[in-house]
Amino acid sequence: MKHFGLAFILCSLVFIGCKKNNTTASSYTPSCSGTKSYSVNVAPLMQSFCVSCHSNYSSYSQVKSSSASIRSTIVNGSMPKGTSLTTDQKNNIVCWIDAGAPNN
Ligand code: HEC
Repeated sequence: MKHFGLAFILCSLVFIGCKKNNTTASSYTPSCSGTKSYSVNVAPLMQSFCVSCHSNYSSYSQVKSSSASIRSTIVNGSMPKGTSLTTDQKNNIVCWIDAGAPNN
């Protein structure tokens, strides 16, 4: 009986570990209202969540030309790698891209 608790904890950890892996790529549907601005809404998020690994995303022209793949990785939850965005943060980026990724 002494090892039952330990075995239970180990099994729980394995279960939680698998569950977490399965939910990293969560789908998301944007909800857009108002105009999103590159300089106000998007650039600061790129700076905080993406530029550490993708230094090219500090430039408007690079973000604009990669916007289709940026959009899909945000919608499927695969980026930002190692962390996640709130729904508001996703909306800011995705809605800006859906509006044609203007330099505003
Ligand atoms: C911790 C490092 C890291 C961070 C932070 C990060 N990425 Fe990535 N990203 C990667 C790596 C590594 C790859 C290569 C593919 C892979 O390993 O998944 C990648 C690939 C990509 C791709 C190409 C994927 C494809 O298949 O076309 C896009 C687009 C992308 N990242 C966008 C972003 C965006 C947008 C953010 C911020 C919201 C971000 N990444 C944050 C590391 C990172």
